[in-house]
Amino acid sequence: MTKSEEWDGALFSQLSPEWAARTQFFEICSSTNDEAQKIALKGGKHLSLVLAERQLAGRGRRGRLWVSKSGQSIAASLIVRPKISADLWARHALATGLALGEALETMGVEVRLKWPNDVLIKGKKVCGVLIENGRDHLVIGFGINVNLKDFTADLAYPATSLALELGISVVREEVLVTCLRRLEIRLEQLEQGFDELLEAWSSRCYLRGQRVSLQTERGERCGVVEGISASGGLLLKTGLQTEQIIQAHDIRIQV
Ligand code: BTN
Repeated sequence: MTKSEEWDGALFSQLSPEWAARTQFFEICSSTNDEAQKIALKGGKHLSLVLAERQLAGRGRRGRLWVSKSGQSIAASLIVRPKISADLWARHALATGLALGEALETMGVEVRLKWPNDVLIKGKKVCGVLIENGRDHLVIGFGINVNLKDFTADLAYPATSLALELGISVVREEVLVTCLRRLEIRLEQLEQGFDELLEAWSSRCYLRGQRVSLQTERGERCGVVEGISASGGLLLKTGLQTEQIIQAHDIRIQV
């Protein structure tokens, strides 16, 4: 990791030395997910990390723009080489959201998780996750609003930052190091099973009991969220039956 005034590496060096060896820092790049894909395709190791101070084309899910600001955000992508079978890879989405949420909780905020992997504080998004699959790897990109204070009005969902919620500036390196510790634990845990992870996730479920509308490949669905299934899908009660939603977007609480 390149040293700068703020990222002096002191906290980062508290992680095991392998982290520093596996980390590449960019002052500027298009998207950390793109850089991580390139590294993965050249054989980059499990838990290789790409960090960027500025992204020129940071992206969110469904091709949306993701704005991160120099000195105020964390933009990072982690290469994961799963040991679990590919039909269970979707579990990484929940593990990631949970790990990041738990990390932010240690900063003193109360988080909720919005399926599949948004981290919210008081209903506003503080952290987004974009997971892109390769043949034998995943790139887990995450963006955290740490010290941002202004958000453009045209965001699809309301956003917040740690600094806005806590009323103080937060040291980004501390947030990142805590996130990496939790990610290492929760991603590792996927190899042992999913029950404990699911329970920890469900206890922070933002949508449980809420009437929502969401978009699926087969069109709009509306119903009440009952929780999360054993395979990580959203359980939606639509009329008399409960459907398992595996992929959806634009999930909105109906008022
Ligand atoms: C979302 O909520 O839609 C996902 C946002 C993911 C943003 C992060 S920032 C680091 C990584 N690089 C990207 O281009 N996107 C992810």
